[in-house]
Amino acid sequence: MKISVIGTGYVGLVTGVVFAQLGHKVICMDKDRGKIENLKKGIMPIYEPGLKDMAVKNHDEGRLFYSIDIKEAVQKSDLIMIAVDTMPKENWQTDLGSVKSVAKDIAKYMNGYKIVVNKSTVPVGTGNLVDKIIKMNQKKKFKFDVVSNPEFLREGQAINDTLRPDRVIIGSDNPSATIKVVQLYQDMNTVIKITKLKSAELIKYASNSFLATKISFINSIADIAEMTGSDVDEIAEGIGLDRRIGREFLNAGIGYGGSCFPKDVGSLIYTAKELGYDFTILKEVKRLNEDRINRFFSRIKKSTNLKNKTVSILGLSFKPNTDDLREAPALKLIKLILGEKAKIRVYDPVAMENAKKILKNTVEYSEDMNHCVNKSDIVILVTEWDEFKNADLKSIKSLMKGSYFFDGRNIYEPTIMKNLGFKYFSVGR
Ligand SMILES: NC(=O)c1ccc[n+]([C@@H]2O[C@H](COP(=O)([O-])OP(=O)(O)OC[C@H]3O[C@@H](n4cnc5c(N)ncnc54)[C@H](O)[C@@H]3O)[C@@H](O)[C@H]2O)c1
Repeated sequence: MKISVIGTGYVGLVTGVVFAQLGHKVICMDKDRGKIENLKKGIMPIYEPGLKDMAVKNHDEGRLFYSIDIKEAVQKSDLIMIAVDTMPKENWQTDLGSVKSVAKDIAKYMNGYKIVVNKSTVPVGTGNLVDKIIKMNQKKKFKFDVVSNPEFLREGQAINDTLRPDRVIIGSDNPSATIKVVQLYQDMNTVIKITKLKSAELIKYASNSFLATKISFINSIADIAEMTGSDVDEIAEGIGLDRRIGREFLNAGIGYGGSCFPKDVGSLIYTAKELGYDFTILKEVKRLNEDRINRFFSRIKKSTNLKNKTVSILGLSFKPNTDDLREAPALKLIKLILGEKAKIRVYDPVAMENAKKILKNTVEYSEDMNHCVNKSDIVILVTEWDEFKNADLKSIKSLMKGSYFFDGRNIYEPTIMKNLGFKYFSVGR
């Protein structure tokens, strides 16, 4: 099938590369000229394990093309995927500006029947809006169908998730368009769930909101565990053994970040409000999460004075295996610590370049973990990279000047840390 992907970000690029790998002809289109020029030279705009090799291979073998020309992308494809950003406005309403603009361009340049597949996360009803915008802006009345195919990939494992998804959701009100989109995924050996257009849109928000709820729930249990002297990791294991609950997303810590959970939870609360429904449970999930960093920070301040101390921050990205800093807890924590007049040194295995653009000269940047902790008074672990999990803790301790170690992701064993001489604090243990 000839496919165009409009928006070559995390979702669009990975999707385009994977469909090319599966043998389709794919144009990845983006309005960002620099990004497209770099991609043509094999320079990836994001860090994602396995992405570069697959992208370069498919580009070289003539299945994957990059373009800034939306007219070319629309006209040379049978199926157009929308994968543009849908960021929140101040009030958490989803900004549909990019989606609307793409819909208008599709209408303008259509040259035959097209299937418009929306992969961006959009509020329920947006598929109908896209349909309306295309109809209103068409020069010639070509037929088309709008299908919702929400994306569930996880940054850091995006290639694998796209090649081997847990499930594929295809929402459409037209069976013949549904069948064409099903054909795209039929070799993937996955469960394909066909739904109404609007159900598919809501499934995405319901999934992310449910996962966010699990995180805020276990974080609240962690607070109770701390107050009672129990251990949240043991509790997570204990409840996770119940198949109805499951162990995943029950890791207590300093809360979720990233470009998806905060915005999707906020957007669903907003949608509910517009419908006259007060989504109280989700409002509390959001509030609890926003409070995690403050709680962790208070814990640090209660344990030690930060003024004029050297504080090492291990991990900046919102989760491991990505360089994405959108809504990263580390950035919020750094801001609070800087307010205490401490000196901050940071290290992240891949997010350093992105961090420099945001943090500028407010912190000192380290090339590796050892340099970061060298002569430092306090170490704070924010992202659970494998490099930190496998670190030589004895040598970390000997490099440090002080002994305070705050672990925001519970990656070390408290007894081992104490035996090594750290004043070790984690979450809910
Ligand atoms: N990042 C994730 O892990 C993830 C996972 C699932 C779903 N999603 C959803 O997928 C969508 C895309 O997310 P992302 O993280 O890939 O965003 P992104 O910001 O990384 O990429 C979006 C791209 O769209 C381009 N763009 C915007 N308007 C355009 C236009 N009019 N024409 C052409 N290109 C245009 C931008 O230049 C940018 O490169 C969002 O709705 C997001 O919620 C993201």
